[in-house]
Amino acid sequence: MKLAIFFAAIFFAGPACAQPFDPELISGCLPCHGGDGISRFGGVPNLAGQNEPYLLNQLRAFHTGKRVHKEMRYMSRHMTEEEMEAIAAYFSSLPAR
Ligand code: HEC
Repeated sequence: MKLAIFFAAIFFAGPACAQPFDPELISGCLPCHGGDGISRFGGVPNLAGQNEPYLLNQLRAFHTGKRVHKEMRYMSRHMTEEEMEAIAAYFSSLPAR
């Protein structure tokens, strides 16, 4: 019984550990995409409320160079898969406008 609780605790703690979002990950994105994911410039897309799989796919595509864009290639060049997932989850969770 105690063992079951132990495993249940690990199960629930697992995903929760990935939750705290490190704002450093997106500090460089804010001047263009906005802290709220709403862009201030024409030509820069809003990220807030965009669906998560799409955002993740775009980040991967910029990262690998499959989607060609100079600034976004530069911004994503050192991202890990985990960071791209966290960023996609973060921006998709913000309210769209
Ligand atoms: C210098 C300005 C600039 C910075 C900094 C920047 N972006 Fe972008 N981003 C753009 C532009 C411009 C586009 C549109 C690219 C295009 O036209 O293909 C874009 C596109 C994107 C897209 C695709 C959106 C879509 O609807 O297809 C994502 C996702 C994204 N950026 C995430 C980020 C993240 C995450 C960061 C920070 C790590 C970041 N951007 C930093 C300018 C910027």
